[in-house]
Amino acid sequence: MTWTPRLACENDILVLEELIPLSVRILQAPYYSAAQMEAAIGPVFGVDRQLIRDGTYFVVEHDGKIVGCGGWSRRKTLYGGDRGRDGEDEQLDPKRDPARIRAFFVHPAWARRGIGRSILVTCERAAIEAGFEKAELVATLAGEPLYASFGYAVAERCEAPMTDGLSLPVVRMTKHLKVVPQH
Ligand SMILES: CC(C)(COP(=O)(O)OP(=O)(O)OC[C@H]1O[C@@H](n2cnc3c(N)ncnc32)[C@H](O)[C@@H]1OP(=O)(O)O)[C@@H](O)C(=O)NCCC(=O)NCCS
Repeated sequence: MTWTPRLACENDILVLEELIPLSVRILQAPYYSAAQMEAAIGPVFGVDRQLIRDGTYFVVEHDGKIVGCGGWSRRKTLYGGDRGRDGEDEQLDPKRDPARIRAFFVHPAWARRGIGRSILVTCERAAIEAGFEKAELVATLAGEPLYASFGYAVAERCEAPMTDGLSLPVVRMTKHLKVVPQH
């Protein structure tokens, strides 16, 4: 199947706020405890409206329903919803800084059908067009195989701190974006 990501808009937010927890609770269940996932939904896994405003967040639809989302960013934040952020998310310098790859979530009924790949291809192309030469992301353990399959290398394994003393094992990954990927 061929997927054609389109830019997300403000009107998509309510649907995305349902899709993201659904994706997390099913597709991350092999990797994280229920307590970890529930603590992360919202602060770690949530909509970042700044990406939608920037025109760097995409959705994929099937029969008019959103079945996946994901984006990139020319701003400093590496992960997380916008709820807890204080102030402006600072702009990066494309010549010096890596673009961010952000917030990929696929509907569990549509996993492993190339939706994540289609959005990642779109994001990398857009970041290259914006002048970025590198990309960086913080992957969940569920997301790591997707990014590894695109040539992202593990830079660091770490724990994202959350409330109630909980944390989430995550992976910081990086890639040089010199060549437009052929997927
Ligand atoms: C990570 C996620 C977005 C991947 O989306 P997807 O549409 O299922 O991925 P794709 O079908 O495009 O996969 C592309 C390639 O990535 C790799 N891949 C993706 N998911 C994988 C998995 N669960 N196990 C092994 N490899 C996987 C494979 O190489 C795959 O190619 P193949 O199916 O031809 O073998 C999806 O699993 C998800 O929403 N997870 C829950 C939310 C989350 O953790 N998001 C990541 C935030 S960093």
